[in-house]
Amino acid sequence: MLALKRPEPRAGVLEIEPYVPGSNAAAQGATVFKLSSNETPLGPSPDAVCAYHEAAEHLAVYPDGSGAALRAVIGRAYAVKPALIVCGAGSDELLNLLAHAFLGPGDEAIHTVHGFLVFRTATLSAGGWPVVVPEFNYTADVDAILSAVTPRTKIVFLANPNNPTGTYLPFDEIKRLRRHLSPEVLLVLDAAYAEYVRFDDYKSGIELVGSANNVVVCRTFSKIYGLAALRLGWLYGPAHVVDALNRIRGPFNVSQPAIAAGVAAMTDVAHTETAAKHNARWLPWLVREIGKLGLTATPSVANFVLIHFPIVAGRTAAEADAFLCARGLLLRRLEAFRLPNALRLSVGTEAANRRVIAALSAFMGGAA
Ligand SMILES: Cc1ncc(COP(=O)(O)O)c(C=O)c1O
Repeated sequence: MLALKRPEPRAGVLEIEPYVPGSNAAAQGATVFKLSSNETPLGPSPDAVCAYHEAAEHLAVYPDGSGAALRAVIGRAYAVKPALIVCGAGSDELLNLLAHAFLGPGDEAIHTVHGFLVFRTATLSAGGWPVVVPEFNYTADVDAILSAVTPRTKIVFLANPNNPTGTYLPFDEIKRLRRHLSPEVLLVLDAAYAEYVRFDDYKSGIELVGSANNVVVCRTFSKIYGLAALRLGWLYGPAHVVDALNRIRGPFNVSQPAIAAGVAAMTDVAHTETAAKHNARWLPWLVREIGKLGLTATPSVANFVLIHFPIVAGRTAAEADAFLCARGLLLRRLEAFRLPNALRLSVGTEAANRRVIAALSAFMGGAA
């Protein structure tokens, strides 16, 4: 038989497990509460929705490929230089661009064992090799990261706070990590949940960019700003990194409706504050109520919580997921994050939060 000849993707591509997003589907007829993707229960600013509708009048025209209006608003909000900002179709795109610009065959990128999945896929798709390091108490461990560095290490990816654990490293630890990294290794701080963190010892890392040539920070409009559907993120980095990304990104990688909605969303500070307050109220409530049920919740500073289930028939994470799903409550299964005995619950509306605790209570009490 003739060998089948066909184009083959390059090494690494078929090592990637296709990303399975948080669930959207529940039992027929059940009211659905989607608590599986860390979206905000408050939705976007009404101003952002208005700006999106206005942008619909101009769909025939290409967007401003530099995203100048958005970079200007971000620059003002964070007191940073707009020229050092790159916008992307979600921070996912920016993470991929970084991997493609800085990794090649034989190069290594480090991430932690329960780190965000895109770090692995971006690394492999760029032809690099993901090096997985242990965490301590579901938290990134700077010493473990540093001891995994080799001459082949080109990137360290770190989500801070991390998804799906919800834990964080204080800024002193981030600075220690940076101090001990070779200046040739790029430290990528993914701060997708920064707006939710209420601890004084936390900083997203933007402060480090000016003083180091090897630190970039990725941010997103998908979480507290409620624009996940539009795909919008941004990155702040040193001029040489920004230059490299601007060479390889698509010239119109961010759409005009996304730019317009992003400008309005970041300008509506009151809406963001309301969302942060909602989270500050309901996150501790959920953690307390979960604890009362005899389940363990990893302390979280983000807008979700990791719930650990016993490895006991009738009480497992998979059975809990099926039980909740049948009642319209969609949480995130975490096998792909190497956490098969846990589920991730996003903070929802008051109604969703109360409903999920009632359902978990029924599940733990054995109600059918
Ligand atoms: C840590 C982390 N980084 C990045 C992203 C992706 O964000 P975006 O929607 O901007 O691509 C997520 C989304 O879940 C995330 O949890």
